[in-house]
Amino acid sequence: MGFLEPDGRYGSGHGEVDLISMPSFRTLDDLQVAGKRVLVRLDLNVPMKNGEVGDGTRIARQAPTIRELSEKGARVVVLSHFERPGGKVVPELSLKPVAAALSRAIGKPVAFAPDCIGPTAQSEVRKLHNGDVLLLENTRFHAGEEKNDPVFAKSLASLGDIFVNDAFSAAHRAHASTEGIAHLLPSAAGRSMQAELSHLQRATEKPERPVMAVAGGAKISSKIALLENLMSRVDVLVIGGAMANTFLAARGLSVGRSLTENNQTDVANRCVTAAQSRNVTLLLPVDVVVAHELKPNAANRIVAANDVADDEMILDVGPRTIQAFGRELRRVKTVLWNGPLGAFETPPFDRGTNAAARAVAEQTQAGKLLSVAGGGDTVAALAHAGVAQDFSYVSTAGGAFLEWLEGHTLPGVAALEPH
Ligand code: 3PG
Repeated sequence: MGFLEPDGRYGSGHGEVDLISMPSFRTLDDLQVAGKRVLVRLDLNVPMKNGEVGDGTRIARQAPTIRELSEKGARVVVLSHFERPGGKVVPELSLKPVAAALSRAIGKPVAFAPDCIGPTAQSEVRKLHNGDVLLLENTRFHAGEEKNDPVFAKSLASLGDIFVNDAFSAAHRAHASTEGIAHLLPSAAGRSMQAELSHLQRATEKPERPVMAVAGGAKISSKIALLENLMSRVDVLVIGGAMANTFLAARGLSVGRSLTENNQTDVANRCVTAAQSRNVTLLLPVDVVVAHELKPNAANRIVAANDVADDEMILDVGPRTIQAFGRELRRVKTVLWNGPLGAFETPPFDRGTNAAARAVAEQTQAGKLLSVAGGGDTVAALAHAGVAQDFSYVSTAGGAFLEWLEGHTLPGVAALEPH
């Protein structure tokens, strides 16, 4: 068993990709926005550090939509959630500090309204001139947001003439500002949403075959639906991260003190059987990096997957596994990547993820494959490997990317279809 057998161009900054089948929703190209109040749903749920935006990648991705609308003379009103205040006002979860970061990203002032509905929001919207940009307070300060309450959705909709959704990463939520509102106003996808959907459609709907999926991360239990859906769509499935330990344990191998989910061995066995019956090449680690502790530069050794001692932990895939990965990679045309292959945040247990990510980046840059990555730790892992710019597309979405790969319809996307 090999690894134990079992055209449009959008400035994503990740290589230019011709768009395939145009999505069935409107885009900014279809809108007349001059002088109109355009409500734009962004995902400004960004990491903060000491009151400042920590990582501005999401903002940078969504800024082009705001800039374009403003340049076309729209009165831009931005909606977003921030974290999970649970339907009440939590001052620490205000979006106010994000206004400055958004302003820097678009290169013009961004006004702020301390509520997203009601008289305060209305009077701030009334003050806007063509081209101005206003950010409204956290939509999740109102219980109606997450309940997708029609009355709350109507109050939001009353602030605009047109709705643009640029928040793919929040599109798996059927909330008032992502779903409900799209039924109340003429709606369209923003540039970032358009780029996400175009790349994801290209990689998942009619991909160039063979297709490889890389599924890493800690838990099978959170990825059962993903594995099942991938199994029916891909030709090669690479399993890495602590999730692979459960597969090894299911085969009766000793994994020592490694992170495993003993109650998931049936799922692992079902995956192996499904792969065999569907002719999917399942790649599990043939060798692994083990240590007694997970800490930087901990003493470690490379062993065959069936040679892990009782007091050792598997923390990364080994070099023979990466070679097998490379061999499969050279024959595929599309790669979908979700999750790291090892404990990449703690070198040297980042080597497997780094090597695999660099191999994908190289093949992508050589024009030999389309590579789309996203979800959870993936962006951090690719950035750590120094190749986030060299994939065809790296999604900044977590849950939404995963749900898309699981084959779900995302309510925020479905609501954009013309009705
Ligand atoms: C995210 O960060 O993945 C999105 O903003 C969605 O956030 P949520 O999981 O709180 O809905």
